[in-house]
Amino acid sequence: MRTLRELQEKIRFGIHHLDFSRAPDALYEPILYTLGLGGKRLRPALCLLACDMFSADIEQALEPALGIEIFHNFTLLHDDIMDKAPIRRGKPSVYKKWNTNVAILSGDTMMALAYEYLMKSPKDVLFEVFRVFNQTAIEVCEGQQYDMDFENEEEVKLTEYLEMIRLKTAVLLAGSLKIGAIIGGANQQDADKLYRFGENIGIAFQLKDDLLDVFSDVKKFGKATGGDILEHKKTFLYLKAKEITNPEQALHLEKTFHDVSLSDEDRIARVTAIYNDLNIRKHTEVEMDAYYALAMEALDELLIPNNRKQELIGFARSLKAREY
Ligand code: IPE
Ligand code: IPE
Ligand code: MG
Ligand code: MG
Ligand code: MG
Repeated sequence: MRTLRELQEKIRFGIHHLDFSRAPDALYEPILYTLGLGGKRLRPALCLLACDMFSADIEQALEPALGIEIFHNFTLLHDDIMDKAPIRRGKPSVYKKWNTNVAILSGDTMMALAYEYLMKSPKDVLFEVFRVFNQTAIEVCEGQQYDMDFENEEEVKLTEYLEMIRLKTAVLLAGSLKIGAIIGGANQQDADKLYRFGENIGIAFQLKDDLLDVFSDVKKFGKATGGDILEHKKTFLYLKAKEITNPEQALHLEKTFHDVSLSDEDRIARVTAIYNDLNIRKHTEVEMDAYYALAMEALDELLIPNNRKQELIGFARSLKAREY
């Protein structure tokens, strides 16, 4: 078994050596910029960790894992346009640094480049890898559309929100694990258990992302604080606040949330104050913990020696405590 650190180093090296020295520059520069800024590179790490649980040969999963990271970065280029998010990984988002057309087209190219790398999966599992990847990619788009639809819907249920984040975020973590497992030679049942583990840590991961969007420091988080409030995102924080408070305060929250006559800073400060009054941070953490517990249950059902699960468990724990 490799340590997570070794796997992360492989990924770092692999990304550093991606060769996109092609023309035109305006298409490839934003791609290199984004991938070079790093980020946590969580999805390729999950892919390699899963492969390593079933096979001594993880090299065969490296290029597909890079393909998944390229796909993830493509979704971020387009997501930042959709969310009007000016900062990503502590630097200007691609559509801000260049322009929207550049972010659209470089993103499209990254989608195709992702396929190029996934195509380097071992031949005997290529079809299955593509089946999982395509389903995942379509579901991510479905989730993104729900996310935007919900900005304009008045009554979003918590269950609808949870399904939305399962689609936009969790399935890609789950798919990364499943693809790694398939390449490592896991049987269908084991690959599915890892998928279920990934869905649950993925939901917890997005809950934490929603929390950090309000309660974090832009220097650590690398994204502008309060962006979800400004974009009227019906996050867990907002929906839970409305659920647990009295009707009068719920109405006050709703009004403040939509009051575009307030300055951005003021609106963020007022909504955050309501979240603080209701101890929303604690409520979000309780929900996150419930999904972590479900993830661990799925992993318990995986019948492989415990020592083969340790790196993955450690990685999941570190995500729970993350501040960016
Ligand atoms: C950001 O993903 C998009 C979400 C699903 C919340 P990450 O938090 O993994 O972003 P990077 O790749 O580490 O920057
Ligand atoms: C992003 O959700 C999900 C995808 C990019 C598919 P968010 O919009 O919350 O992600 P961040 O916070 O911008 O990274
Ligand atoms: Mg966003
Ligand atoms: Mg978004
Ligand atoms: Mg977010």
